[in-house]
Amino acid sequence: MIDFELTDDHKSAQQIARDVAHKYLKPRIADLDRENKNDPEFIKRLKDAELLGVCIPQKYGGMGLDYISLGLVCEEMEYVDTSARVAFSVHIGLNSLTLLTWGNEFQKEKYLVPQAKGEKIGTFGLTEPAAGSDAVGILTTAKKAGSKYILNGEKMWISLSEVADMFLIFAWTDTDKQKKRDHTGLSAFIVERTFKGVTTGSITGKLGVRAGKTGWSALSDVEDPAENLLGNEGEGFRIAMSCLDGGRYTVAAGSTGLIRACMDACKDYALTRKTFEVPIAQHQLVKEMFAEMIYGYEAGQYLWMKVGWLRNKGMRSTRETSLAKWFCTDQAEKAAYNAVQIHGAYGFSDEYPVERFFRNSKGAAIYEGTREIHKLMQADYYLGYRTDHPVRCMPPRWEE
Ligand code: CAA
Repeated sequence: MIDFELTDDHKSAQQIARDVAHKYLKPRIADLDRENKNDPEFIKRLKDAELLGVCIPQKYGGMGLDYISLGLVCEEMEYVDTSARVAFSVHIGLNSLTLLTWGNEFQKEKYLVPQAKGEKIGTFGLTEPAAGSDAVGILTTAKKAGSKYILNGEKMWISLSEVADMFLIFAWTDTDKQKKRDHTGLSAFIVERTFKGVTTGSITGKLGVRAGKTGWSALSDVEDPAENLLGNEGEGFRIAMSCLDGGRYTVAAGSTGLIRACMDACKDYALTRKTFEVPIAQHQLVKEMFAEMIYGYEAGQYLWMKVGWLRNKGMRSTRETSLAKWFCTDQAEKAAYNAVQIHGAYGFSDEYPVERFFRNSKGAAIYEGTREIHKLMQADYYLGYRTDHPVRCMPPRWEE
């Protein structure tokens, strides 16, 4: 049976996230964004509210709520600030859910538990200066040397790179396969910030997400114990793609929060600002922009909630996640564009939040699979050029 009603647990996760975001972030976000500053306190607030492990089972230190709760938290967070949602997505969607799916018990105890409790922060390192969409094009290598792997390479566009304690790093363990672009030569590793040879830095001058810590990380002869290999050698590409299923879900859900923020900001403005002696909300062309935002919000929510439902049941959702991510980020971009338009000249100034929403909306149409990658995936699924093969480790179904 399909049930559209939120449970008490859903409403409670939603409320906790709403409270944290409104109380601690909302009053400061405009200044933080203007000053390109990250709020380190915010992560602590999420930890105190236990949200950093919202959908991680209690036995691994999390709250044990379901994947819909995860989506609701993302929506509430991005309603207030995209950069907070990005940090949350990377920590839980890309990193912790991956440890839950692919980690062995030792790795879960050592790395997942402190992450779910918010004592340690995780991030994800796939993208490189010369390889984004083309994940097989990465250059980082991991050479086995006795009981260790020696990692060398550079990762780029890493959210939380200067904050995270743990990185998931993707690297070639078989360089012959690298030459043939055979993805089975790639492997995944857990790397700790404190390991010798790990350096990180920030990327400045970003169009949006200016209150977020985005950066790079360089690995120079980093000695990673073999026990930190995630999954088996050669499973790195599959692990990366399954990470992205988790991450893209959180991006899709978050984007509906941005659409709602645009709608609400415009409602107050359009009902009070007058032109031609009537509130601008009464003009048909303004109504059309509202209608488009409502359409994006409602349809987007159905799409990501369906993914949450599939994940709860332990079912594969790569196609549905890609569609939700494409649609929701696309609609968020359109909503933010319309929000600036509705505000007229004021929308062009940082006196109103819609200018920030507009800049923040752009990144999500690029990271975690560009709009173009998702269009190709959708067409390829439909045309039969792409099918999902069984995967050795699936994200665990939600146990009530
Ligand atoms: N889960 C598990 N395994 C998966 C999978 C998934 N979701 N998707 C694919 N696989 C497996 C396949 O089964 C296949 O394995 P087998 O050969 O054993 O069957 C293998 O992975 C290769 O799959 P495909 O043939 O589907 O791979 P492809 O080459 O067709 O993929 C692509 C092409 C869709 C373009 C893919 O490379 C892609 O999604 N690229 C975008 C990458 C991306 O999003 N990069 C940005 C990420 S990071 C970021 O944005 C920064 C940040 O920190 C926020």
